[in-house]
Amino acid sequence: MAEQKTILRALAGETLKTPPIWMMRQAGRYLPEYRATRAEAGDFLSLCFNPELACEVTLQPIRRYGFDAAILFADILLVPQALGADLWFVTGEGPRLSTITDQSGVDALKPADAVHEHLSPIYQTVRLLSDALPPETTLIGFAGAPWTVATYMVAGRGTPDQGPAHALKDENRPVFEALLDRITEATILYLSEQIKAGAEVVKIFDSWAGSLKGDEFDKYAIKPAARITAELKRMHPGIPVIAFPRGAGERYIGLHEAIGADCIALDDGVSAAWAAANVQTGGCVQGNLKSSHMVTGGDALVRETREIVAALSNGPHIFNLGHGITPDADPENVQLMIDTIRGS
Ligand code: CP3
Repeated sequence: MAEQKTILRALAGETLKTPPIWMMRQAGRYLPEYRATRAEAGDFLSLCFNPELACEVTLQPIRRYGFDAAILFADILLVPQALGADLWFVTGEGPRLSTITDQSGVDALKPADAVHEHLSPIYQTVRLLSDALPPETTLIGFAGAPWTVATYMVAGRGTPDQGPAHALKDENRPVFEALLDRITEATILYLSEQIKAGAEVVKIFDSWAGSLKGDEFDKYAIKPAARITAELKRMHPGIPVIAFPRGAGERYIGLHEAIGADCIALDDGVSAAWAAANVQTGGCVQGNLKSSHMVTGGDALVRETREIVAALSNGPHIFNLGHGITPDADPENVQLMIDTIRGS
């Protein structure tokens, strides 16, 4: 029964004795079985568009660790690709995209409903997962937030300070806002299709929200997330939404209400004790162990894991890392984290 799933109970506001657990990037290169399946697929994008293999890598960490949630295997940059951007990954460096710098770039984009056809293999992965997952495991769908996706579409790659997107915003606001709107519309359709295919929760990743200052944080991080959340809840009443405006710092306060999200995911820039007093009062929180503990392990991992569990134990909490697990992590440290949380 859906109500029995621990993740859904926490998202509904229940305080559980042991927090449910999953990890950002839990299907990834730190796992030998992931590397083997990726090699079989050929490369990362071929893996994303192969529903059987994408389903397989999503299930690998569930089999190995028994996480309480599985997250669809895909990438936030598939939406720009659906809108017509060229997308490729350079091994060891990261993503590359064709860039958008002016009105003609936005004019050349496909309409938002291009996500239906282009991303149909992703919806098929969701359907396969929905059949294959154990009954206690929650299936999370996801997309990038418009600002974070725009930073890659404007620069054509990851950047340390999102400089090119800030420059477009400051120098040609109508073009920047038109781009954000197109991404927002596509994201609503994309997440809605994931929900129709069986996603039980959706998460909006705003990895670069922290670089927006002043009222631009409200305008370009909170507002689009609130619009996506409201539209999804209108189309799919009761669908839980997790928002992850990474780097929000003190601006994490009040975000449940401002976005309309059921859960706010915390990065490791805030302490769990601070979050308990200032953010968890608004609803479920997710986080926020430093992912470096998955590399270094030992007593520090155990101590900090216990501190986070204790600090957030008086309200709804989903245990997670503050950001994705890195390829150099030791799979045994993940087990140590889980054993520490579950107390075995
Ligand atoms: O969390 C999960 O396991 C679900 C799958 C998922 C991936 N990317 C798979 C992936 C999710 C939720 C993402 C989100 C994503 N992708 C974000 C937002 C979250 C964050 O990390 O801040 C961003 C910014 C991207 C864009 C992206 N994709 C980058 C910058 C990179 C290269 C960096 C890297 O780790 O290599 C990717 C590649 C990527 N996406 C990998 C995976 C497993 C590694 C690809 C590989 O196997 O070589």
